[in-house]
Amino acid sequence: MKPAFWIGVGLLALFAAPDWGASREVVGPQFTAEGQLALPQDYREWVYLSSGLGMTYGAATSSDSEHANFDNVFVTRRAYQAFRETGAWPDKTMFILEIRSSHAKGSINHGGHYQGDVTAVEGEMKDKSNPRGKWTFFGFDLDKGSGTPFPRTAACYSCHARHGAVDNTFVQFYPTLLPIALKKGVIKPVAGEP
Ligand code: HEC
Repeated sequence: MKPAFWIGVGLLALFAAPDWGASREVVGPQFTAEGQLALPQDYREWVYLSSGLGMTYGAATSSDSEHANFDNVFVTRRAYQAFRETGAWPDKTMFILEIRSSHAKGSINHGGHYQGDVTAVEGEMKDKSNPRGKWTFFGFDLDKGSGTPFPRTAACYSCHARHGAVDNTFVQFYPTLLPIALKKGVIKPVAGEP
């Protein structure tokens, strides 16, 4: 077979592959050939929900304000629109929690904090057909660009199920969604308890 043929095949495969860089939104989870959840490259074009600064909600997290992390929360646009209409997360909803370092000293800044590099990216996906549970949490390997599920025994599952205001998620901390959830009466009564 001529090398030109194989180059042609390679180019075809390249163009047929999903183009993560395009503005087209990924509406559902995508998996790698190894069966891992692909890190959606366009998650920063999803709907931005909030940034927590130095939030601590577990004994192991640091409250050191000098080195507090930012966490930025993004959700798929279709899921956001559905939530605004119904007060519920539809099937295949995906969230990304992007954790970034914070800095206090730089350029003209004299007070407050601004965001630095990404230190971790975690995800959460709703799949009603999963017999092990409709929500699954993922930790992403940023070098590989893919994520593996956390085991069902991980603290993610229990904390989110117990304290998330709406269906496993922390809508109580998302200012554009909280009024909608309150209006629709979908806030769980246990959400604020320690
Ligand atoms: C002790 C409680 C607790 C544990 C444990 C926990 N989280 Fe969360 N998680 C939160 C809170 C509170 C927020 C809201 C963050 C904000 O407002 O910025 C959140 C937000 C999120 C979000 C954004 C979507 C949502 O549900 O609101 C994702 C994704 C997420 N966490 C993933 C994880 C993963 C993965 C783990 C396990 C490795 C984990 N979390 C463990 C409390 C917890």
